[in-house]
Amino acid sequence: MEFEPIATERLVLRPLETRDRARLVKLANNWRVAKNLGTMPYPYTQAAADEWLAKQVELWKSGKSKPLAVTLSGELIGGVGVGVRDDRGDDDWELGYWLGEPYWNRGYASEAAAALRDFAFEALKLERIVAGHFTDNHASGRVLTKTWFRYTSEVQRYCLARGTNVRCLEMALSRARWLEIRAGAANPKLAACA
Ligand SMILES: CC(C)(COP(=O)(O)OP(=O)(O)OC[C@H]1O[C@@H](n2cnc3c(N)ncnc32)[C@H](O)[C@@H]1OP(=O)(O)O)[C@@H](O)C(=O)NCCC(=O)NCCS
Repeated sequence: MEFEPIATERLVLRPLETRDRARLVKLANNWRVAKNLGTMPYPYTQAAADEWLAKQVELWKSGKSKPLAVTLSGELIGGVGVGVRDDRGDDDWELGYWLGEPYWNRGYASEAAAALRDFAFEALKLERIVAGHFTDNHASGRVLTKTWFRYTSEVQRYCLARGTNVRCLEMALSRARWLEIRAGAANPKLAACA
């Protein structure tokens, strides 16, 4: 895969590799992670990890999905990605992420999400990104708000781990808003006037 890893202040985001398998199983096999995601199986077995790792090249080649490992000091601590969802029936690119529980509440998800947001607008040239979180997942709502997303609607979304539909708050961020906030962040005087 031709991809220059994205380095943030503390993290490196890079394509998943077979050497990530053990960390992936250890961190993803957690109900508190899986219950908040649409398509992560629970329990998360070695077979599930193998299936996911084997799909990476194909997903990148499709041009419609960019899954990345979130790594800290060279070790996988979670996943982040943007991609077009098969079940949505539209061409919107969705941002998603998860972190292993030992790494929560240190700002890592916000750091990874902001980097992927910038990658989506700068490298992929997208006009809009969507995201969503289940209504009981307040931490993710906070991550997305901090990443400049705004609420758009409420839908029912299937959660594989829970085996049922769950209320989900959908959010979106347009390129225009991203440019506007970025310009304000680069020039605090402008932001103060806005
Ligand atoms: C959601 C998740 C990615 C957050 O990761 P994280 O690295 O802890 O996130 P950050 O530290 O960047 O930010 C978390 C924010 O939520 C806040 N938060 C944490 N728990 C919260 C709660 N129960 N209620 C409200 N806010 C909460 C934190 O205070 C922080 O906000 P702040 O910076 O304003 O203080 C992580 O908990 C996770 O992987 N959960 C399971 C998978 C998942 O939910 N993925 C997202 C699916 S939409």
